[in-house]
Amino acid sequence: MNEKKVMLELEDMTKKYSNGDGVEHISLDVYEGEIVTLLGPSGCGKSTILRTIGGFLDVTSGDIRINGRSIISLPPEKRPTAMVFQSYNLWPHMTIYENLAYGLKLRKTPSAVIKENITDILQMVSMPGCEKKYPGQLSGGQQQRIAIARSLLLKPALLLLDEPFSALDAKIRQQMREELKKIQQDLGITVVFVTHDQEEAMALSHRIVVMNKGHIDQIGTPADIYDYPETLHVASFIGEMNFITQGNNTIAVRPEDVTVIPGEGSGLSGEVRTIMLLGHYVVLTVQYGDNVIKCNINRELSETLKVGDKVSLVLGKHTVFNRTA
Ligand SMILES: Nc1ncnc2c1ncn2[C@@H]1O[C@H](COP(=O)(O)OP(=O)(O)O)[C@@H](O)[C@H]1O
Ligand SMILES: [Mg+2]
Repeated sequence: MNEKKVMLELEDMTKKYSNGDGVEHISLDVYEGEIVTLLGPSGCGKSTILRTIGGFLDVTSGDIRINGRSIISLPPEKRPTAMVFQSYNLWPHMTIYENLAYGLKLRKTPSAVIKENITDILQMVSMPGCEKKYPGQLSGGQQQRIAIARSLLLKPALLLLDEPFSALDAKIRQQMREELKKIQQDLGITVVFVTHDQEEAMALSHRIVVMNKGHIDQIGTPADIYDYPETLHVASFIGEMNFITQGNNTIAVRPEDVTVIPGEGSGLSGEVRTIMLLGHYVVLTVQYGDNVIKCNINRELSETLKVGDKVSLVLGKHTVFNRTA
């Protein structure tokens, strides 16, 4: 990533609504050709950031630059960005062709070029030949593909996607993720993606920005965020995590990072509480003092254990958070 060019810069950006809600001190660099995801629970400020980038909200302070140029005084249509929302916003009375052609016509693109571009983009989003259909004749996933195609036709330097798949059912959502990743790679465009779904963020992103109550908690690759969470919020929001209290410390350890040894041993002594077979692995819960610790173990080991057995737990990779700090 070192030689990569910074395309989008947010510098100490604050956006406060009149009621005091909003986001504060947001600093973030996004590199050219990268998918960066803003991830966090509902209300943490993801859409607020995306709208300030797209120009639908003014910033209270700080700056936003694209390719080194401040864009905060530009209206949305003068920014090199395109935004796709959760609801598809296709015009129901227009055909897919008309929906797609609209923005290009405004730009006075010759109609032969429009036609060619639309054929190409429909191919790219796996919807070839649907030009004459109306949005109402398409499924939710298909409509969202068209909405993405429409924004791509304008060749934005930066594509902004606000929970574009969250209205779709799980299977389609997964498929759309893969397709978006492929389109992004093929076109080499830069994407800022917003989601509250940590799995979607992990699967899709080069880097993830984990947000919490209007500020950024951590920025890193999916592996960084998963392996080295910097705050308790990040640790609890991403993946499965055990939290073990010991004095003033909270130890965060993932179920796959706990080794279970039958009998008393040098690790944390506990007692098997439940044993759940989940296909190729087994989830064991162990009572350790007031803590219930989830451990992923293999089937072979699970067959030697029963509820109530004494076990010793050895923690592999884990993070210690000091609650008084
Ligand atoms: N137009 C608005 N006026 C006042 N408060 C708002 C407005 N839009 C969002 N908020 C508040 O700002 C915070 C962040 O909202 P938002 O950016 O929509 O979060 P997210 O997209 O992460 O769910 C929330 O507390 C929300 O209630
Ligand atoms: Mg939102």
